[in-house]
Amino acid sequence: MMSPGTLGVVFLLAIVSLATCAQNSEARVKLENGLKSMVYLSPKITLHPGLVSNKTYYDIEFPKGHIAVKSFNAEVVDEAGDPVSLQEIYVHHWVAVRYYQRKGVENDRIIAGNSGLCDHGRSQFFGMGSETRKTSTYVPDPYGIEVGNPVKVPVGYEEKWMFDIHAIDTRGAVDAIGCNECRCNLFNVTEDKDGMPLRPNYVGGLYCCYDGTQCKVKNGLQSVERNVYFKYTVKWVDWSDSVIPVKVFILDVTDTWQNTGIHNCLFEYEVEKSATNNYTNTRRSRVRFPTAGDVIYGFAQQYFGGIGSALYGEDGRVICSSKPIYGKGKNIGDEAGYIVGMSTCYPKPGSVKIAKGESITLESYYSSKKKHTGVLGLFYILIHGESNVPILLWGVALFGLGLFVAVLVAHQRRKQNEDEYQSIAT
Ligand SMILES: *[C@@H]1O[C@H](CO)[C@@H](O)[C@H](O)[C@H]1NC(C)=O
Ligand SMILES: *[C@@H]1O[C@H](CO)[C@@H](O)[C@H](O)[C@H]1NC(C)=O
Ligand SMILES: *[C@@H]1O[C@H](CO)[C@@H](O)[C@H](O)[C@H]1NC(C)=O
Repeated sequence: MMSPGTLGVVFLLAIVSLATCAQNSEARVKLENGLKSMVYLSPKITLHPGLVSNKTYYDIEFPKGHIAVKSFNAEVVDEAGDPVSLQEIYVHHWVAVRYYQRKGVENDRIIAGNSGLCDHGRSQFFGMGSETRKTSTYVPDPYGIEVGNPVKVPVGYEEKWMFDIHAIDTRGAVDAIGCNECRCNLFNVTEDKDGMPLRPNYVGGLYCCYDGTQCKVKNGLQSVERNVYFKYTVKWVDWSDSVIPVKVFILDVTDTWQNTGIHNCLFEYEVEKSATNNYTNTRRSRVRFPTAGDVIYGFAQQYFGGIGSALYGEDGRVICSSKPIYGKGKNIGDEAGYIVGMSTCYPKPGSVKIAKGESITLESYYSSKKKHTGVLGLFYILIHGESNVPILLWGVALFGLGLFVAVLVAHQRRKQNEDEYQSIAT
């Protein structure tokens, strides 16, 4: 047992070191053009040639407090902090998910996801793949993604963030693109991550490239371990009345809603090699949009072979379209044949609206010159929902009501006075 004195000293030390920690991370917050900005590193990811890493990292570092996130940028770096080429470490995908952690109960977590639409998964606020480096994530003023609002956290819980990061080390790979498309034959797997046999005719996709699987590398290759980190930069402003919150929606082209009435997202699909000279493969899904609002920002997510994607309104108008940017050289951020960015939409606020209950069609286009396995078609949009407008309307309404009451009271008083006057007179 420690004596009360020692306990006191330990306690004091703990407080002091906590305070220094807080100070250190506070000191790392940069302020530029009114935005706060902070650079963080994920836990270490250890890879060797051919290896797949797909891990969940709970309680990652994230700005504290009630804030509006303005951007979330990232890239993979090595131990020296230098950017790593997609030709060596392929960022298949990553997602940053918010959750509520029950204090003192490690396995009690509630996902505090985005606004939809998939019933399971796709609950991230931020997430991309190889396009991470060159895809703008900036949320234009006066909008922001509201997080850390203490009023929304259930009692006994605290808000935290986690990452899922899926990366493939393709150094020395026999067929790097094949590894990145998760071709089952290159991984020599016959079972999925839960030990279930693969579906017959399943030739590629996420069921073949789970954590710890190994893609085929050249014979005699020396296996050299490598540690990398996911480096992410968050920019934000403190929450205030001048920030207008936007909702995050992710539409998935594999959503079965139009056939099943539920948002069952299959996550991945396959593009067959075309038998004709039409090399555009189109996949479509239709959903009914749950809320009305203005589109503030949007971009699509695709894998190898992707040639663009678009969201259409019920009347056929284009809500947003987004195209991949393929790298052309050897430089980091311009890796030939890789999708290094996606174009984004920033409609003039108020110019692109979605109506409540509107039928929205998502189309995802891939080149079918070759077969592609394990592809995806997502569309990420930020919506300023109409539920925020009534704050102003409510103000006007309350003011009106106040005026009405005041007039009524004044009128009653006068009437009363008149009555009294009359009673006196009579
Ligand atoms: C593929 O897996 C089987 C058993 O799962 C194993 O016997 C064989 O050596 C593996 N082949 C390669 C090339 O790793
Ligand atoms: C990667 O890990 C996440 C979290 O455990 C899991 O949900 C997902 O299915 C995994 N993906 C693959 C391809 O194994
Ligand atoms: C090519 O096929 C797609 C269907 O995948 C179709 O939407 C498109 O209109 C076709 N293009 C031409 C030029 O026929």
